Amino acid sequence: MTHFSFTSQAGQTDHASDIVIVPVYDKRAPGVATMIAPAQMGAAIQHAMTTDLHFQGKTGQTLTVPAPAGSNFKKMILVGMGATKGMDSLRAETIGGKIYTAVAATGMTSLTILANDFSGANAHMAADLAHGFVLKSYTFDKYKSQAPQAPDYTIRIALPNPTPAREKFAQLAPVAAGAFLARDLANEPPNVLTPKTMAERVRVAMEPLGLNPEIIHEAGLKALGAGAFVAVGQGSSPDKRPMMVVLRYNGTGNDTSRPLALVGKGLTFDTGGLSLKTNMSNMKFDMGGAAAVIGAMAALAGRKAPVDVVAVLGLARNDIGPDANCVDDIVTAMNGKTIDVQNTDAEGRLVLADCLTYVQRRFNPHTVIDLATLTGACKAALGSTMCGVFSNDETLSKRIRASGAKVSERGWPMPLGPEFSAAIRGTYSDLVNIGNGGPGASTAAAFLQEFIEGKTKWAHLDIAGVANGVFGHPTMPDKIGTGFGVRLLNQLIMDHFEKKPKAPKTEAAPAPKA
Ligand code: BES
Ligand code: MN
Ligand code: ZN
Repeated sequence: MTHFSFTSQAGQTDHASDIVIVPVYDKRAPGVATMIAPAQMGAAIQHAMTTDLHFQGKTGQTLTVPAPAGSNFKKMILVGMGATKGMDSLRAETIGGKIYTAVAATGMTSLTILANDFSGANAHMAADLAHGFVLKSYTFDKYKSQAPQAPDYTIRIALPNPTPAREKFAQLAPVAAGAFLARDLANEPPNVLTPKTMAERVRVAMEPLGLNPEIIHEAGLKALGAGAFVAVGQGSSPDKRPMMVVLRYNGTGNDTSRPLALVGKGLTFDTGGLSLKTNMSNMKFDMGGAAAVIGAMAALAGRKAPVDVVAVLGLARNDIGPDANCVDDIVTAMNGKTIDVQNTDAEGRLVLADCLTYVQRRFNPHTVIDLATLTGACKAALGSTMCGVFSNDETLSKRIRASGAKVSERGWPMPLGPEFSAAIRGTYSDLVNIGNGGPGASTAAAFLQEFIEGKTKWAHLDIAGVANGVFGHPTMPDKIGTGFGVRLLNQLIMDHFEKKPKAPKTEAAPAPKA
């Protein structure tokens, strides 16, 4: 566990630690360099800055040098803060992530961060910096027999007024915990994480937060008429059968207004089914959508967000076997639409179809947001820095992208439209589960849209490119499960869905008499 303390800056360099982190701005403003003791520190900083031609003080740049003899430190890491103007939470978080990367390379574990410049209205941003460090420090080594023990970092952050940062950091802790929960689930191998064990992990994680997951097993799904969902899991062995998990978070007290709904694709492994994949490496991450929804629910409950959210997770495996669903099978979804399964590897949309119908009919949400590692096509289009954002509501789409950008979980708008809907019309049935030639990310989204009812606002985030295999991200671990979506959803909810306590009514001025 990493331990942070936010302390006032008096005597900030008096405490010994392995490393001192020295912020340097773009324009090489002196910053703390001239203010810290002992005096040779300032000279050493100036020396490092003038002899290293590469180090410009650009946001997140780092330079590790020996600390001067006689100081309380072994190493000094200069960290670029960017321009002196315009510091914000995102930049602070990014810098925190970069500090982690530089610190991890030293093998040392105790540090002092001289955060003098986080003062006044910016004081709280020292918490964002710490949050960035935490997010980037995630590791998953539990299956290494010679487990490299993840080091315990002790971090002192010195700044003029530590109180706002301390308070904000406490609010951010549940968000980091939610992201870590999502990553932990995503990284588990499929022999450990099955629909059943995943549902159990959800229970263990959520119960302490006061949430009791409801599980609808296969028989229940059949009774509900979830023929599309059930078809996907019917080739799995008895202990890996499909199930739906429902989570309800009521953060507004007895508010009875309509909730926000989150839906997650939770394929604990996707072989492709009879339409077998040729390369199925990393298909354990096909539950990334569900993991993100779980992590977001944990974050909301952890920070007691004033919002009502229901979550539905579609958990299944897409397996082969004598009972596996077959190409040319025609199945009936919960909303009565019939679907010709032309490719068993387009299974996510079958699972989501019934989850979408279920969540709308049971909870009457005003807005539904689904997250899914749905298509390789989306990954091909957008790579691994952005998810695809499909929506029937322009405002919702914009909000998702704006809130995501604030936390480095970016989205890019992708189209729905009649041409994509036309591509999934069936010859023998209402729908086919693959588009006839159309662009795969949009035809998949158009398929989901068939299950959106009435005026429900809906957005679909295709996270196939970002759930894993990301490199060089400021706050996500390289290569492994990212937990993408947890922070986007949390930020979106904070920005737009929380019921702020009503401001006390002010007495209206009496209307002037005519
Ligand atoms: N889980 C995959 C999508 C995926 C691909 C995620 C690569 C991450 C990386 C999904 O179930 C799938 O197989 N989609 C098919 C759809 C096709 C058969 C229409 C795809 O993208 O190839
Ligand atoms: Mn598939
Ligand atoms: Zn899949």
